[in-house]
Amino acid sequence: MNRETFYITTPIYYPSDKLHIGHSYTTIAADTISRFKRMKGFDVKFLTGTDEHGQKIQRKAEEEGTTPKEYVDHIVEGIKKLWETLDISNDQFIRTTDEFHKEAVKKIFKKLYDQGDIYKSHYEGWYCTPCESFWTEAQLKDGKCPDCERNVELTEEEAYFFKMSKYQDRLMKHIEDHPDFIQPQKIKNEMINNFLKPGLEDLCVSRTSFSWGVPVDFDPGHVVYVWIDALSNYITALGYLSDNDEEYKKYWPADVHLVGKDIARFHTIIWPTMLMALDIPLPKKVFGHGWILLQGGKMSKSKGNVVDPVILTQKYGVDAIRYYVLRELPFGSDGIYSEDNLINRINSDLANDLGNLISRTVAMVDKYFNGQLPGKQESGEFDDDLISLALETPIKAEKYIDNLQFSNALVEIWKLVSRTNKYIDETTPWILAKEEEKKSRLATVLYNLLESIRFISILITPFMPNTPKAIWEQIGIEEGDITTWDSLEEFGQYPITSKVQKGKVIFPRIDIEEGERPKKKQKEKKVEEKNQEEYITIEDFAKIDFRTAKVLKAEKVEGADKLIKMQLEMGNEIRQVVSGIAQFYSPEELVGKNLIVVANLKPIKIRGEESKGMILAASKGKKLTLVTIEEDMDSGTKIS
Ligand code: MSP
Repeated sequence: MNRETFYITTPIYYPSDKLHIGHSYTTIAADTISRFKRMKGFDVKFLTGTDEHGQKIQRKAEEEGTTPKEYVDHIVEGIKKLWETLDISNDQFIRTTDEFHKEAVKKIFKKLYDQGDIYKSHYEGWYCTPCESFWTEAQLKDGKCPDCERNVELTEEEAYFFKMSKYQDRLMKHIEDHPDFIQPQKIKNEMINNFLKPGLEDLCVSRTSFSWGVPVDFDPGHVVYVWIDALSNYITALGYLSDNDEEYKKYWPADVHLVGKDIARFHTIIWPTMLMALDIPLPKKVFGHGWILLQGGKMSKSKGNVVDPVILTQKYGVDAIRYYVLRELPFGSDGIYSEDNLINRINSDLANDLGNLISRTVAMVDKYFNGQLPGKQESGEFDDDLISLALETPIKAEKYIDNLQFSNALVEIWKLVSRTNKYIDETTPWILAKEEEKKSRLATVLYNLLESIRFISILITPFMPNTPKAIWEQIGIEEGDITTWDSLEEFGQYPITSKVQKGKVIFPRIDIEEGERPKKKQKEKKVEEKNQEEYITIEDFAKIDFRTAKVLKAEKVEGADKLIKMQLEMGNEIRQVVSGIAQFYSPEELVGKNLIVVANLKPIKIRGEESKGMILAASKGKKLTLVTIEEDMDSGTKIS
């Protein structure tokens, strides 16, 4: 049976020995979805590579007294190594200097020329004679060459142009008919409003001012200029226009081109119009992700050392880095990188939440049952809640990963991690262990914990390919049928014949003062820790159910000067809340007010009166004022 295919690409990278953590984002994200799709049984092709031609490379090689090819060879090796270090599972690595690619690009150029979609004309630009470079008006620095800062002249050069304008209407229609083609929406709007609506211009696709590129073989002196060469890699890698185009037939059109927002235009305008001219289908989706920024600005070569992915993986481990970039960058938006942030994530999400869950569970199974459980025996309170969340999580995570919302998928998975930790606090296994007759309940509790850990380990596999193996070793299972994504359809597959094995701490806590980081004084650290404790997460905040409520009735509580009891209308419900505001408001004043109530506060009795919730007020010294709603809102409306 033919399996469904999934073809995903990253951009091909410019050869630079300073690829930073931001560059790694695209590749880690593409790797994650590739791993997930493979787990789901797809026949995946994941392509990445390098974009090696152009004047810059030619000039750098000249400066180093070497050939451009020799110059890039060495850098490309470094890039391949980087992807190995980050456990990137690409199926192919294409170089635009690969012979098969160059041959196919020549044919593409010729085909477009022969059918009249490429024509010869003149390119006008600002020319810097010493640098032998053309610049556009926008690239100039104070009207001078951005490289050497010398004067430039407006010059003309003979060049070939691609009739991009001819495909404008067809492209607009395609975008309208395929709402998922450009994502996220923000990028789609930008492309339509900034480029398509004002009208597309024809595109200059050859150069004569440098020679390091794919030659235009029917016109010596011209080389193919960047985009036809670079973008074509997505089809030349599959053998398009070659003797063997089996892969092209199998995988094209691509399911996703994952690109940074800075190159979204090339992928959503130039590339589709080229494909239309070649009369081949367009990719199903182009997703333009946000950037990882440094506090205080963009990442750059000079700041490279602080964000060098190799150094970061050596310090913190590959899976931690992968987790961090995917968790930190929300769907389609920019995220800010800081090492403190990274360490906080490692310490809280990985060491505290996940690592502790595993070590606590394994230690208890070891202590109370010598490492092997007698199986599930006695169900009890909290089990259903845990099990239903475990079964829901893969469905939610799957949807998010498919929509490239990695951060949201991780949030869902971590809800299960937190729920499992909470289950330990709720069921208190250490108390159950004290009484012999509770042993059967204890066995079930620990079974549910190990099974939830099995769930979590599978869910994180696409994101963190190494950690699951370490977890499986500790909970005593091996990769196989019970570690597949499909096995998440049923809770209770952890084999009772398994024996846990205490092992190394999965994510050790990082001391914030470790390594090259500047030492902070003890006192400062304490203050910092305290401040951090004072933060709550968005999940903490989401636990509070704030509601609007209308005061229907209010009266003083007998025998208590300060208390007023109120009947509040909250949607269909009427509830009583007692509050210490009698010195500030009379009961009459309160009736009719629209207040805000913490609706899910545990009910208590005050002076024998039940109080279900708390109203919000600002108070300082002898002043107090109630928080009210300005506009008339339905009572019971949720506040977020
Ligand atoms: N060679 C072109 C792409 C041609 S594709 C046919 C190119 N190369 S690049 O090396 O400059 O960039 C590669 C990718 O890294 C791009 O998707 C770019 O958006 C991404 N990033 C570079 N810096 C980044 C961040 N700071 N954050 C996230 N992604 C970033 O463009």
